[in-house]
Amino acid sequence: MKISKRVKAITPSLTLEISAEAKKLKASGKDVVSFGAGEPDFNTPAFIRDAAKDAMDEGLIKYTPASGLVSLKKAICNKLLVENGLKYEPEQIVVSNGAKHSLFNVISALVEDGDEVIIPSPYWLTYPELVRLAGGKPVFVETKKENGFKMTEAELEAAITDKTVALILNNPNNPTGSVYNKDEIYALAKVIEKTDVTVIADEIYEKLNYTDSPVVSIATYSDKLKAQTVIVNGVSKSFAMTGWRIGFTASPLPLAKAMGSMQSHTTSNPSAVSQYAAIAAYDLGKSEHFIRKMHASFSRRNKIICESLDKIKDLTYVVPQGAFYVFVDLSNVLGKSYNGEAISSPLVFAKKLLAEKLVAVVPCESFGSPSCIRLTYAISEEDIVKGISRMGEFVSELK
Ligand SMILES: Cc1ncc(COP(=O)(O)O)c(C=O)c1O
Repeated sequence: MKISKRVKAITPSLTLEISAEAKKLKASGKDVVSFGAGEPDFNTPAFIRDAAKDAMDEGLIKYTPASGLVSLKKAICNKLLVENGLKYEPEQIVVSNGAKHSLFNVISALVEDGDEVIIPSPYWLTYPELVRLAGGKPVFVETKKENGFKMTEAELEAAITDKTVALILNNPNNPTGSVYNKDEIYALAKVIEKTDVTVIADEIYEKLNYTDSPVVSIATYSDKLKAQTVIVNGVSKSFAMTGWRIGFTASPLPLAKAMGSMQSHTTSNPSAVSQYAAIAAYDLGKSEHFIRKMHASFSRRNKIICESLDKIKDLTYVVPQGAFYVFVDLSNVLGKSYNGEAISSPLVFAKKLLAEKLVAVVPCESFGSPSCIRLTYAISEEDIVKGISRMGEFVSELK
């Protein structure tokens, strides 16, 4: 059977092999420590789960408008106004099956054959695949470790051509854990404002910021910039709701209409029950306590993982300021060998580490990095210490 060129252009995920092997080892009773998952390890707060149960009991289980319930859109508009200082009307919100689906909608609606989309590298591996699926060309901007893996205005300016239609900006960042402060984000906004490039602002890790300054949305820079921005966010990482599948976009009205219409012919509405749960999540007074607790817990684990990594002198990293990932540089150990086998890449390092020490990590070749691995610290403090200690042993055995 013929497979379309667009789908064939997608790269299969390198990380699947490692996670499948880690799962197999765990199922066979092995004590695997996994730094792989990209999700909070908490349960969804009880008041959100109760809202879903109530919706089911009341029979609110039918189709909703394709782009989401008006009551949820209103709750999202209130969130954007109160927390982000951005005024949107409910018609400008499209609720989707998770932020990933929102990104698919935006990129499909914006990108045509040959269009360029700027993606600061390292990047979340889904971005270039979605651009390729739409027929576009990802243009990577290599960020520097000494700049905390943040793109500078000069680097952005140099990447813009007359084919550039969009920039994807993820703040706080997966996989690097970097957070752009207001000045840094506004410096990029200043460059964008001189063009007609659209900013796809992925703010899914907004609540996980360990710096002293707030995460500021690029759309707050000016009215013109707001009209050039599509905000992507959702409940997955903020409220421990990855499996509920609710994300949203806030954008200029014509784009919202286009995405709503696309969605009406593809997935129809996101799950009705999950939408009722999301309305509860965006009840800001109620969710504040949970967010504070989750933040404190991740902030503590951030310190623990960094202190543990500091004991392994051959591994280096930039202290993560946001999200729940540490991006670890293997440059000092690549080229060494383990029992005679050369550790030639992050993938080989990850495979060997799993086989020898039962520790699963994410090799970052498909995140745009030939020398790094990503560790998620959304696991217990005990497992963090145990896993990093095993990794230290492994690194010390490299010759
Ligand atoms: C940067 C980034 N954006 C978007 C998503 C997707 O979130 P969702 O689970 O809501 O689809 C993820 C999930 O890992 C992510 O890391």
